[in-house]
Parts: sequence; C-alpha cells; structure tokens
Amino acid sequence: MYVLGISRVHDSAAALVRDGEIVAFAEEERFSRVKHDGRFPGGAINSCLDQAGITLAEVDHVAFYWQRWPEVAHAARVFARYFPGTLEVFRNRREGGVRSAGWRETWRHGGGSGGVDDFHVGGAVLAHVKRTYTIGQEIRDAVGHTGPTRFKVHLIDHHRAHAASAFYVSPFDSAAVLTMDGVGSDGTSTCLAVAHGDKISDLRRVKYPHSLGAMYAIITGYLGFHPTVDEGKVMGLAPFGSGAYVDQFADLVHLDPDGGFELNLSWFRHHVNGRHLVSRKFLDTFGPPRPRTKVTRDNPISQHYMDIAYALQATLERAGLHLARWLHGRTGLPRLAVAGGVALNSVMNGRILRETPFEEFFAQPAAADDGSALGAALEVSVGRYGRPRPTEGFIYTGPEFGEDRMERALADAGVPYQRMDDIAAHTAAALADGLIVGWFQGRMECGPRALGNRSLLADPRDPEAKTRMNEKVKHREAFRPFAPSCLAERAGEYFEGDHPSPVMLLVSDVLEHQRDRVPAITHVDGTARVQTVSRDDNPLYHRLIERFAELTGVPMLMNTSFNDNDEPIVCTPEDAVACFRKTDVDALALGPFWVRKEAGV
Ligand SMILES: [Fe+2]
Repeated sequence: MYVLGISRVHDSAAALVRDGEIVAFAEEERFSRVKHDGRFPGGAINSCLDQAGITLAEVDHVAFYWQRWPEVAHAARVFARYFPGTLEVFRNRREGGVRSAGWRETWRHGGGSGGVDDFHVGGAVLAHVKRTYTIGQEIRDAVGHTGPTRFKVHLIDHHRAHAASAFYVSPFDSAAVLTMDGVGSDGTSTCLAVAHGDKISDLRRVKYPHSLGAMYAIITGYLGFHPTVDEGKVMGLAPFGSGAYVDQFADLVHLDPDGGFELNLSWFRHHVNGRHLVSRKFLDTFGPPRPRTKVTRDNPISQHYMDIAYALQATLERAGLHLARWLHGRTGLPRLAVAGGVALNSVMNGRILRETPFEEFFAQPAAADDGSALGAALEVSVGRYGRPRPTEGFIYTGPEFGEDRMERALADAGVPYQRMDDIAAHTAAALADGLIVGWFQGRMECGPRALGNRSLLADPRDPEAKTRMNEKVKHREAFRPFAPSCLAERAGEYFEGDHPSPVMLLVSDVLEHQRDRVPAITHVDGTARVQTVSRDDNPLYHRLIERFAELTGVPMLMNTSFNDNDEPIVCTPEDAVACFRKTDVDALALGPFWVRKEAGV
C-alpha cells in the first residue's frame, strides 16, 4: 500500500510511505531551488515516485496535511469575536516597510507565496479550502499523469499530522506528545496528546489567536527579521541580550494551571488582522520595530533589540516548560515526542529535557510544516489502515545519486578531480589542515539542518573557522552559531548530559573546561546545537569524524548546511558543484571524488 503525503504553504513537501516504511520524503525547495518554497510540491512528488520506482497509478492514498472546513469555522469565530477590528483583514497595507495582503490577494496567493506576510486571513482560508478540492488534479498535473488513478484523498487534521510525524517514527511504545506551531487547520496552535502503539489521543488543544508560534513569529518580525522564516536567527540572537525585559514580557503569555496558556492580546494585533504585528501598546512600551534590514558589521543590531530577543526566548521557554510539565503530570510517561514549527526551538527543547521529569526526548528533523507531509502519510498508513510504524530510518530520506552522475557533473563543469580510495580519511586530513570542505554523500537529509550528507565542514578547534565560513561561503549574520557533529559515543566528553541528539534539535552546554578547545561551535552563552552521530545512523559520516579524531584528538566537526546564504541546501551533484564554484569553499568531497579549489575553478 502506497501513501503519498503532501504539505504546502510553508515549506511544501512530499512523502511516500510503502507498507508502513518511509520510502522517500523531501522538501520542495530542494528541487525548485526556492528557499522555503510554499508552492505545490510537484518536484518533491516526482522525486518520491522516482525513488520508489512507481507511477501515480500505483498510489493508493493521498494524505493532505490540512482539513477543509474546520479552519473556515474557526476563522469565522475569530472574526466575530474580535469584530469590528477584524474588518482590517480586507485591506492591503504597507507598514514599517512590510507589505501585508488583504482579502483578494490572499485568496490569490493563499498565503503561500508572492511575498505576502500573513496567516489565517479570510482569502487565505478560502484558498486552503479550494486546494482540498483540487489536490487530486494538481498531483496529476505535476507528474504529467493522464492515465487512470486509484488514490483516495484523506484530509488530515494539521496537528495530528505533526503529532504523527514525531510519535510514529520515534522508537517509543508510548509517549506524551507536544505539538506547537502558528495555527493549524482547525485553529489549533498547541496540541497536548498521549500516544500508545498505533494510537494518538488528544488531551487538550489551545487555539489561535493564543499561539506561541504566532507570538514568536510576530516578534521576529518586530526585530526586523522575516516572520515564519527567521525564528532560528532570533533564537541565536537571544543569548546576546540581557534580562532587561523579561519581567515585562511575562505579561505577554498567561499560563493556565490546566495545561494551557493565553496570550495577552493587548500586546498583539494578529487576532484582528491575521498579520504578524504587535499592538500600539507594545510599540509605546518597547519602541518602534527594527527596520527589516540585514544585520551586518556596518548595520549592527542594537542592544535593545537583543534584549527583546532574550525576553521573547525566555517567555517561550517558560511556556514550553509549563506545557511539558503538565503533560508529564497528566500522562505519567517518561518519554516526550515533539513537533510543529516551535519544536525547531532547540534551546527550549534542551531546557524541557533538563528541567522537566521527562527522561527521553524525540524529534524528527523536519519538525515544521515540511514534516506534516510525512505525518499526514503516517496518520493514514498507521492510524487509519493499521500498517506497522516505520523502522528503517527517517533522517536520510531524500534522493541519492550514483558515481556516474557525480562524475558527469564534475566533467561538465570542467573541474579537475581525483577519485579517492578512502574519501573519509582524505577529507579528515584536509579538515585538520584548516580547509572548508563541501561534503556530499548518500541520500539527502530532510529538514532544515544539514546532518552530514549535504554539509559544509570545518575544524571546530579553529577560532577563526566561524568567521572564515561566514566570509568565504555562508555570508550569514555573525551572531548565528555553527553546530558541531560529534561522535555519539564521545559526546559526554564535551557536552552536558548524554542524551542522543541525532537531528540537532537539542541544545546543550559545552562543558566549561572544553570550551576553549572547540571555540568554533561554542555559542556566546557556552551552548552548542549538537548533532550526535552514531555509526548506525550514518556510517560514512561517523567514519569521517573518527578519522578527524585520530588526527586531532577532537571527535567532532563544525557542520553547516551545504548552500550559500538564502539558498536551499544542495540536492543534486550539479547543485553541489555549482555552489562549490560560486563560493570560496576550499574543497569538495562529492561521493568518492575530491576536488581542490585552484585558481579559475
Ligand atoms: Fe504546522
């Protein structure tokens, strides 16, 4: 039985599940080369079918990550509840340099593209409804299939899709499940659930406009970053701030002893206009928003905004800890699975694991809406049709390419290359010599982080590695940290706690006596976004880090995604060669092939 899962609007993606196993899963951006692409995921669907070696005719079920009418009913309730302020949703407007779309434009774009900056707005809601009717035809069109099909379309509750994307791929027989995002298909922003075997049961839901994802997105926008895209930057910025506004920010979120929370809406305006905007009261209290400009050496971000980022992060963590503690008390289970865009907040996740009674923690890499394509497919496969839960890996689910294709990409680009007998040993030596290496191997990882198959690597001991990586390749804001990939069996020598973190969604403290040893991956507050690498998860990457450890004594590498700034992670060998040539990456390990950058390459 084949189930094709689909998500769109934010980080469109497609997943294919065969008799319970994940055959393929990837984000559309990797194929379209448009970062966070929210359009219909035709490229991802084609790739999934290719990897399975089937056509659309063989797909039995399509699982869409969104329901049809519940969002309309919820949006209508929000409209009535906050009327007449909600009349704002009908107007296009430009505010603080940010363009927001009204009724007609959101109907056209559905909130998914065109640079509009809004959510849960009338026109977008109706566009979502329309798509639930047209999805079958859109799939046929995307793959150019004109013959008969037999698939049945299932519309899945969005937070159930998030919950399924985490719990069903986790190794847990039973677990508490926490999903948090901006808003789901029935207005849910937060779902607290319990799961046993092949069944997930809701315990309680919190609905928009009360939404931690909305709060974080709105203040991300206030800080001059892109809402729903740059929340990770704000998380990285927060430790540069002080606690100056933490007490005032406590009033933004009121925690409910019964496991929920409410936003104090006097600080916000999203409930009346569906846009990521703070209220007049917020502006009077905290001052004007930062213009949406890139933070650079010549355009630094002021201490004031860093303090706001700190207070925001602290407020989110307080709420996340509260929800997790309630879930633990209610379920009595020692294991927690998380998903939804807010679950990408690895700093909050680390605190939940450390400071609540939960002993085990699980997230899959695509915690945000990309993962809800996979979750929708699993909800149909496991939840509705009783197929077994997947067991064969959920990280490296993208396409892979043979040596022929890699060699052709190099030859076509006219790049001189060598074939290495032991690419891991050769690359480790180059990294120990201080080179930045593009590392392209095996199947592409899913989710926003590179996890060792499409990575740019450097020596974590080098205090200048971060600056060089930023200046030569990534062109990222200097305040953002770089992550380490560490041998799982030796992570305890460097990091507090010994919980596995295979998908980089748990931040932990670097042990104080080791911080000077690995300055490139230690953030300003002494933390790191660790990826623990086990031989089982990724044997070649594990071997590479082992070789590096033999040469240097340090069992980790600095790892960032293989792409230039604002580009999706590379997918194909051609993408990798193009990125290598365009940037100042020193060397490329493309499968077994080694390329050293020389003048003119
Ligand atoms: Fe979501």
